Amino acid sequence: MQFTGSHILSINQFDIQDVERLFQVADAMEPYAQRAKRTRVLEGAILSNLFFEPSTRTRVSFGCAFNLLGGHVRETSDIKTSAISKGESLYDTARVISGYSDVIAMRHPVAGSVEEFARASRVPVINAGDGPSEHPSQALLDLYTIRKELGINGPVANFRIAMVGDLKYGRTVHSLSKLLCLYNNIHFTLVSPVELRMPAEIVDQLRAAGHKVIETEDMQEGLQNNDTVYLTRIQEERFSHQREADIYRGRFRLNQAIYTRHCKPNTVIMHPLPRDSRAEANELDEDLNQHPSLAIFRQTDNGVLIRMALFALTLGVADSVQKYEEEVRWFTARRYNKPSPPR
Ligand code: NCD
Repeated sequence: MQFTGSHILSINQFDIQDVERLFQVADAMEPYAQRAKRTRVLEGAILSNLFFEPSTRTRVSFGCAFNLLGGHVRETSDIKTSAISKGESLYDTARVISGYSDVIAMRHPVAGSVEEFARASRVPVINAGDGPSEHPSQALLDLYTIRKELGINGPVANFRIAMVGDLKYGRTVHSLSKLLCLYNNIHFTLVSPVELRMPAEIVDQLRAAGHKVIETEDMQEGLQNNDTVYLTRIQEERFSHQREADIYRGRFRLNQAIYTRHCKPNTVIMHPLPRDSRAEANELDEDLNQHPSLAIFRQTDNGVLIRMALFALTLGVADSVQKYEEEVRWFTARRYNKPSPPR
């Protein structure tokens, strides 16, 4: 794709070459994210971060990624404090905010809303999650993480992944599955309650891409023989009644004992976060926090690199980041989470 000036709305926009280009730019962002160097390549540019749904890491990491490239960030983080609560249309908001910004990252509870907004925007819009539909930057950081964790250089192939939890409403697993359709010979085990299964059209897409797909409600069976286990939270905000979400909460849990018993040694543990750590849910137990295969905080670190790369490419500066490089003047703590041990 022609990245410069493009909206990033769906993972379907990407082909294998686009992913390779993005990952190459993301690799080059590492010294800046680590604060070994700084760059002012986007000095003067403005990102508007429009989050009409709760978010911590996506909102902050989009903002930090832009700051790390030298740009400024403006934020709206609550639907109640924005004019949308006065009945303003997405069209009007897009016309207004795109007049103030160079690029916009947007999250909204309604599927398709970010695309509608982008049609009226005069600047590139990046979808930071639209309801249960898509979360393309998360899928890219997830694939980037899978590659690093499994030690695969270049297009992935021949590995086994289990996706566990709310596969119906979880937009991260939707986007990641679609992205993995670009590659060959992946074995998917989809573990969820029957009512929260992966949408049939995505399962069909996976099979049409030649992947093997098994769907099961049995967590123990589902955990066997994978290279990666990708856990998700029950998306309680998408249920019409809270009580309905309670039925599924805590149904699939991973902890040290279950991992040791059912997972192949070195199975990489992923989760888009937030993990629901309340006792009744506890889908990913804190007793795994020191486990070398727990990749969740490496995933969040990688999110900054991927978002920096998306900004550098959509704003057409990917090749001049180094040209505007400077020394870092302040104390820099070691911030990156330890890389995974060699497999
Ligand atoms: C996810 C999301 O918002 O879709 N979080 C994230 O962006 N990392 C997953 C979730 O909320 O469960």
